[in-house]
Amino acid sequence: MRDIMTDDLLTLKTETDAALAGATDLRAWDAIRVAVLGKNGSLTGLLKELGKAPPDQRRERGAALNQLKDALSTAIEGRRTALENAAMDARLAAERLDPSLPPRPGRTGLIHPISRTMDEMAAIFGAMGFSVAEGPDAEGDWYNFGALNIPAHHPARADHDTFYLPGENGGTPRVLRTHTSPVQTRTMLTQEPPLRIIAPGRTYRADHDATHSPMFHQCEGLVIDRNITLGHLKGCLTDFLRAFFGIGSLPVRFRSSYFPFTEPSMEVDIGWNRKTGELGAGGDWLEILGSGMVHPRVLANCGIDPREWQGFAFGMGVERVTMLKHGIPDLRPFYESDIRWLRHYGFNPLAPVTLHEGI
Ligand code: PHE
Repeated sequence: MRDIMTDDLLTLKTETDAALAGATDLRAWDAIRVAVLGKNGSLTGLLKELGKAPPDQRRERGAALNQLKDALSTAIEGRRTALENAAMDARLAAERLDPSLPPRPGRTGLIHPISRTMDEMAAIFGAMGFSVAEGPDAEGDWYNFGALNIPAHHPARADHDTFYLPGENGGTPRVLRTHTSPVQTRTMLTQEPPLRIIAPGRTYRADHDATHSPMFHQCEGLVIDRNITLGHLKGCLTDFLRAFFGIGSLPVRFRSSYFPFTEPSMEVDIGWNRKTGELGAGGDWLEILGSGMVHPRVLANCGIDPREWQGFAFGMGVERVTMLKHGIPDLRPFYESDIRWLRHYGFNPLAPVTLHEGI
């Protein structure tokens, strides 16, 4: 560095280093940063004056100034990191957690509305003979798409905004499951029909705004038996929705739709009043879930003979039904761990789900 550095530049470097060493907190550090690199800082001033240097010296002076700028920036950032680490060490030493303290009266934890909804789903479907199944969040492509009749390049893949994960040890890449439907695949592959499961859990899509989160929750349902018809699907989902929302007369509409893994497919709507948000009255319709009769090709892909067995499946968004049921207007606070929000919307852990609120 010394070769092209002139004395004034070396002095600035030495002075800045000394000032940084003397700065014991981030405020003092920031004052130095501004004094050197800021709009009116000493280095900034030297850079501005570069134009006034005689042309034959400008090139060398410019190179020296750039070298100094890099050196100063590195020193300043390094000091910041050191001060931040020291501040964190001091906090860790000063703030101790005492797990032996008794709980504060009146400060019991609360059940998050998402957990509560999934518990209610398990209770209602449990009363209908369903058990709860699970699958991993990081899935194989075939479980999430291929087995469900969504081959590579199928247009339905474009709807899913998939997060892809690199494969472990150079293995095949995985996906963060874009729906809970891969649990259908896993259940059919590992269990003998008849089957009756729901699969609540986390799902992921690269989508983020007031009503979409890159991580959200769904609850899948799958019924496989002999002689299952659309009538079973309609009865089951109507009973569930009326029980879940606690409205015995809730209007429920089945509207023809398309999913690659069901045929026929149906979107399920409930009646509400769009203006007031009141459920069960008002003459407007609101889409709640997707459903349909399991596609024979999906059964075959999963080792179940479609000539002997058939069934239905459904999937719904857990946040969506939770927001509707409890009048929660915004999706984002679900994931912000704000204790004030939880105190307002959370549930008493000592009051478990009871079916008199439900079925
Ligand atoms: N997996 C579908 C979705 O995420 C929902 C669905 C599940 C539809 C099961 C039909 C049957 O949109």
